[in-house]
Amino acid sequence: MPNNAALAVGLGLGAVLLTLPSGDFHLEDWGFAKRLVLCVAAGVTVLVLVRLHRLLFQPLELLRTPEDVGYIAEDGRTKARAANEARRRRKVGELPPVYPNGWYRVLDSHMLGRGEVRSAYILGQQLVVFRGHDGKAHVLDAYCPHLGANLAVGGRVLGNCIECPFHGWQYRGSDGKCEKIPYSDKVPEFAQVRRWPSCEVNQQVLIWFHCDGLEPQWSVPEQPEVANGQWVYRGRTEHFINCHIQEIPENGADIAHLGHLHTPGLPSGVDLRYTNSKTWEFVRHDWKVEWDPEPEPNSHCSQMRVNHSLTLFGCRLPLLDLRVVARQVGPGVVFLRFDHSFLGRGLMMHCVTPVEPLLQCVTHTMFYQRNIPAVVPKFILKGESIQFERDVMIWNNKMYISKPLLVKEDAAVRRHRRWFSQFYSQNSPQLEYRRDTLDF
Ligand SMILES: *[C@@H]1O[C@H](CO)[C@@H](O)[C@H](O)[C@H]1NC(C)=O
Ligand code: FES
Ligand SMILES: [Fe+2]
Repeated sequence: MPNNAALAVGLGLGAVLLTLPSGDFHLEDWGFAKRLVLCVAAGVTVLVLVRLHRLLFQPLELLRTPEDVGYIAEDGRTKARAANEARRRRKVGELPPVYPNGWYRVLDSHMLGRGEVRSAYILGQQLVVFRGHDGKAHVLDAYCPHLGANLAVGGRVLGNCIECPFHGWQYRGSDGKCEKIPYSDKVPEFAQVRRWPSCEVNQQVLIWFHCDGLEPQWSVPEQPEVANGQWVYRGRTEHFINCHIQEIPENGADIAHLGHLHTPGLPSGVDLRYTNSKTWEFVRHDWKVEWDPEPEPNSHCSQMRVNHSLTLFGCRLPLLDLRVVARQVGPGVVFLRFDHSFLGRGLMMHCVTPVEPLLQCVTHTMFYQRNIPAVVPKFILKGESIQFERDVMIWNNKMYISKPLLVKEDAAVRRHRRWFSQFYSQNSPQLEYRRDTLDF
């Protein structure tokens, strides 16, 4: 319920109270000022209760717009202008291919009911996503090969096909073949739209991209605690980041940045100009990290193991120690498992999906033990998003360095680059041009 609706309900309740005389207590004897105070008090109480209920029980949904986070808007410029300029003026560097082969998140399963159609813009492509009446989700190229209408704009689900809004041709979700042309008795053999291999795991719809059109070479594992309902949805965050996709997973192998960028406590905020201010210096995070690829047959996976502890005035608080194992599965999906001595266990699914060559959509979706109050995983998710937004401010403004100047303590960065290069192949798309403007 939005805040002003809650306030209105409260005020209404207060107003009703005013008209109800009861027993010895006659409201009509009260002066106008007293009644008004009572009325406002009732309104405020309801508002506080609604907010408290939301805080304790509702999922956290933090959806940032592309220019929201990680740019410096000074001298009266708007955030959108600052974001445009940062993007246009930044030196790009010598980039690896822009779309690695792998699985990428499209949307959350609950956003796509049976018979529903959604448009998606991913990997620089217009796609149509729909759920057939048998419950299966399908992803096809959005443009109808007949005369080019966008199937996601007014297309209709008929059985397990999608019907084009322009002349009514019908395409099968399972393979993209045209099944019916309503005004013609013959359907040409080659009438077909491209179908993207897709799957649905952990309440997300994912698509497979391979530059040579190969079918999936590995799969994204279902997480048993999510599948069997032991761990439940507690919220998600969404960010758009202006950088090459590889920069984001590389963060996991960049051990040294944790001890610098992520050391200031959460109250220090996300704006890197102020995170080292003295006010909150007594809250520090301490990180112990290891990063390694997994052996065959899971060489497309890697693991980052993290021991996190919090120090207050230099004293470690062992009760707040948090262990995290972040398992990266291919270029676009990471499962972060949290294990805490008394705050319980849960899983955060971190997905990076390229929107365009240098624009990534990152989501964090939180699942946590059902019997732990939602406020705990929400706090962890919020904390993670604060730390993440510090990285965002770096990514949005940095250039890619193909031959970085590393010291021996940075060795994992080089190992990570070697590991990540398996997702590029001969024909992987390279950045061809730079758009001059970004219209958010
Ligand atoms: C984290 O702590 C556990 C137990 O205290 C230890 O076995 C493990 O090696 C530590 N991991 C790292 C990355 O330091
Ligand atoms: S453009 Fe799709 S049916 Fe004609
Ligand atoms: Fe980071």
